[in-house]
Amino acid sequence: MSVKNTSKNYGTIAKWFHWGTAVLFLVSYLSIYYEIWFTPGLPPPGVPRDPAYWTSLQIHLSIGVSIAVLVILRIIWRIINRQPNEEAGSKLEHLAARAGHYALYAIMIIQPILGYIGTSVNTEYFFLFEISKFEETALFASVVSDGLGMTFQEFEVPIDFLHKEVFGRWLIWILILGHTSAAFYHHFVKRDRTIYKMTNNKKHSE
Ligand code: HEM
Ligand code: HEM
Repeated sequence: MSVKNTSKNYGTIAKWFHWGTAVLFLVSYLSIYYEIWFTPGLPPPGVPRDPAYWTSLQIHLSIGVSIAVLVILRIIWRIINRQPNEEAGSKLEHLAARAGHYALYAIMIIQPILGYIGTSVNTEYFFLFEISKFEETALFASVVSDGLGMTFQEFEVPIDFLHKEVFGRWLIWILILGHTSAAFYHHFVKRDRTIYKMTNNKKHSE
């Protein structure tokens, strides 16, 4: 198995990025819905925070930040690496596959940014170190306060709407469902090597 991509397969590093990110997405969803469904949520001022609420929220934030860092490294790796050859298919299928992959890259960048700029708490990155919330940065002061003349409370409404309702509840699910359906369509209907390219299975490869 090669570290770099070959004409037939994704290499070890591309596979780790791919499956590692898929697991991070899953844990990101599990942690935030655990927080929303099973913990009391943000307490009113003066009331102590519930530890399960804070831990599950911080896991969500830390994982989101990790996805953002990983996607940058992944894109660099993709640029300096060759792409495996595409399986046979119509022009439209190739176009749809490429558009789908670019859209997945886009959500891996946009969703963590929306989460970060819309949150009212600092990120305690896996409880190792703290990342200041956007509201406390110079960028917020110059762009949002001075530039747009908005308070954080006004600014977070549309941002939270995009992060939670548009991307979190709908867009990401639609893209991932489309992506996995396409992978299974290749495997079970077209019976080509698409899934093997992204797994360790050596079937039909050189
Ligand atoms: C790709 C990464 C991410 C994904 C897939 C994601 C997804 C989600 C989802 C599904 C929700 C709940 C939506 C609902 O209300 O039904 C949510 C809420 C939230 N996310 Fe993210 N998120 C990501 C990254 C981030 C980051 C990086 C931050 C901040 C640093 C963040 C902060 C929040 C906050 C504060 C909430 C609201 C929690 C609450 O309602 O108590 N997210 N996110
Ligand atoms: C069970 C879930 C998943 C399966 C079965 C799966 C399968 C695959 C396969 C077979 C490929 C190779 C496609 C090709 O070369 O034509 C691929 C590529 C890709 N997948 Fe997934 N995937 C899954 C989850 C995810 C998730 C959750 C994300 C991100 C949110 C994701 C993002 C991508 C991206 C961006 C590519 C393109 C890689 C590149 O060429 O740079 N996948 N996936």
